Amino acid sequence: MTITQAFTRINVMTRNCASAAFALAIPLLALDSKAARCEPTLDEGRDIAARHCARCHVIPSHNNMGIGSTPSFKLMVRSKSGDWRSKFEAFYTLPPHLNFVRIKGVPKHIDLPAVVAEIHMTFEEIDSLMVYVDDLARQFRK
Ligand code: HEC
Repeated sequence: MTITQAFTRINVMTRNCASAAFALAIPLLALDSKAARCEPTLDEGRDIAARHCARCHVIPSHNNMGIGSTPSFKLMVRSKSGDWRSKFEAFYTLPPHLNFVRIKGVPKHIDLPAVVAEIHMTFEEIDSLMVYVDDLARQFRK
């Protein structure tokens, strides 16, 4: 595990849901809002993939053309390699993304200007993206 990945894991484990602060302030009301605000959802994951990733990747039921040799999401979730899932979880640490993906709370991986429009995301959004990726894996992995 690289230092960046270790830092990222700690961030994932210690990050604050908006409702966590709320929960401390108003415990009774927070019971409902916790699920509403912190649960990752398939719909959000699908939206994020369509909005951010489909600029380059082919996403099932969304676009048919990607950029150059960018692998399609279907191809990636069908990968025989054991680490396809962890690559999605840490995609922002892998080239080319580390040049243009900014995760809230994570320092820039490289100090060069982005060569394409930046993507700004949170760890909560990555959780939803993973729900979507797991759903694709259920559909397309054999
Ligand atoms: C500007 C274009 C671009 C955008 C936007 C983009 N990607 Fe990629 N992605 C690539 C390219 C190009 C590769 C292939 C890199 C390689 O083969 O080394 C790739 C590879 C990947 C890989 C496999 C990495 C590996 O090392 O095997 C994952 C996972 C991935 N992308 C996830 C995402 C996700 C999730 C998003 C959206 C949040 C996204 N990408 C947005 C261009 C992009």
